[in-house]
Amino acid sequence: MLARIWSASLFGINAVKVGVEVDVSGGLPGIVVVGLPDTAVQESRERVRAALKNAGYAFPMRKIVVNLTPADLRKEGPSFDLPISVGILAASEQVNLELLEDYLFLGEVSLDGTLRPIAGVLAIAATARSLGIKGLVLPRDNAQEAALVDGLLVYGFKHVADVADFLNQPHRYSPIKVDGLEELTCTQPNGLDLKEVKGQSHARRALEIAAAGGHNLIFVGPPGSGKTMLARRLPSILPPLSFAEALEVTQIHSVAGLLRNQGSLIRDRPFRSPHHSASGPSLVGGGTFPRPGEISLAHRGVLFLDELTEFKRDVLDFLRQPLEDGQVNIARTRQTVCFPAQFTLVASTNPCPCGYFGDTLQPCSCSPRQRESYWAKLSGPLMDRIDLQVGVNRLKPEEMTHQSAGESSLEVRKRVQIARERARNRFEQAQLTLRCNAELQSRHLKQWCQLDESTRVLLEAAIRKLGLSARATDRILKVSRTIADLGDSATLQMSHVAEAIQYRTIDRMQ
Ligand SMILES: Nc1ncnc2c1ncn2[C@@H]1O[C@H](COP(=O)(O)OP(=O)(O)O)[C@@H](O)[C@H]1O
Ligand SMILES: [Mg+2]
Ligand SMILES: [Zn+2]
Repeated sequence: MLARIWSASLFGINAVKVGVEVDVSGGLPGIVVVGLPDTAVQESRERVRAALKNAGYAFPMRKIVVNLTPADLRKEGPSFDLPISVGILAASEQVNLELLEDYLFLGEVSLDGTLRPIAGVLAIAATARSLGIKGLVLPRDNAQEAALVDGLLVYGFKHVADVADFLNQPHRYSPIKVDGLEELTCTQPNGLDLKEVKGQSHARRALEIAAAGGHNLIFVGPPGSGKTMLARRLPSILPPLSFAEALEVTQIHSVAGLLRNQGSLIRDRPFRSPHHSASGPSLVGGGTFPRPGEISLAHRGVLFLDELTEFKRDVLDFLRQPLEDGQVNIARTRQTVCFPAQFTLVASTNPCPCGYFGDTLQPCSCSPRQRESYWAKLSGPLMDRIDLQVGVNRLKPEEMTHQSAGESSLEVRKRVQIARERARNRFEQAQLTLRCNAELQSRHLKQWCQLDESTRVLLEAAIRKLGLSARATDRILKVSRTIADLGDSATLQMSHVAEAIQYRTIDRMQ
């Protein structure tokens, strides 16, 4: 007899509906799986055989053929254990067929029949919803996560025997309910707060501008000046995630198998800080079945490249295209997968090999040539995408012992949100789909960053003195626009542009 069960397979951060056809017929006892299964799916045969026997079901001593459709899509992982088990039970008439059409079945089955959670359930649930599927049957530990998508009936079970019982006596079971998705509250990611940073008004201000305009930023300063400390606090002044954004972020982490609290939404903006020994694929994503990399895990949040000059040049080159596009495409022979990657880039670097060039307390011991070859590393395509170059000095001992706390992240975030709102209104009036000033193009700058004559003269002098390119000039104008938004000014004033010119520390060194 033939039974057909529905399941799903991940494809990037989305899912594809997969048919699992099971035929039990005469012939030599055995089980074959066809339809582009990977090794984990092949091993499913042994797990399912043991699980069904141990759960007390008759395992048909006949020829069992499992066919996965569509045939040209590679099927991976252990999530087909449950649909294959259900298919065998259905084809051997041990469970009722009535509900099989309406639900997707997914889950890993262990040898004793216990159901184990799988990765990517949120993505599968979202896809199921968009396909108009009635519900999901999956491991209990995945049920909360799936139920984040409303409009689906989600049944979570601990054991394959419970699933069989559900199919035979559905009236005895009810779908899982999530306790109303509360409004996303303001959170302080990692518990880190700007109020712990003493002094450093210049760097704090730059961080606020970065948050308000979505600008990429690099801190330049000697060891111990607080670069890492400052960078880690950027998520705390970004606006809270909207519900849609939180779902997006959770979906990516779910696909990567990194969801720590199964079933709860990620509410904090991500902060990813890959080590400088990270490979290109670990940064941008990769693998036979592509998984998201650091830049996608940082989607809607912050990617922090600490000690930028320690990263290999060719690894940083991987970031160029995604920084441009806000997404990364990973091509494989059979498919191209696209992962979103919209993040704010924060980097840090010493000003020179010894670390103390420009320090007020300790002299630099590098030769001019050493410094120049170091600065040469700080140029090129990645630096070309960084709007704010911010010098950070070490605190003097008297400043360090000074106890007064700085302004809290919550206070700063209020101003950031108001400035972003102002920019958004401008974009809406112009019917543009931009999200923040960092995304402004040259043609927008002509419209929104007009300068009066004396401001134009000031900018021109800076361009000459620092030897700025046209792109660097555009970055100054974008940053000026954000500074004006923070100051509630519709037009660009000289003070806005003058401040933006301050954030060119590296250009100035070179
Ligand atoms: N402005 C500051 N306020 C409070 N503590 C600071 C400040 N700057 C540095 N520190 C202290 O010094 C330590 C080293 O700072 P860190 O951010 O690691 O410096 P860097 O990354 O520039 O080498 C921090 O963990 C913190 O304890
Ligand atoms: Mg550091
Ligand atoms: Zn030096």
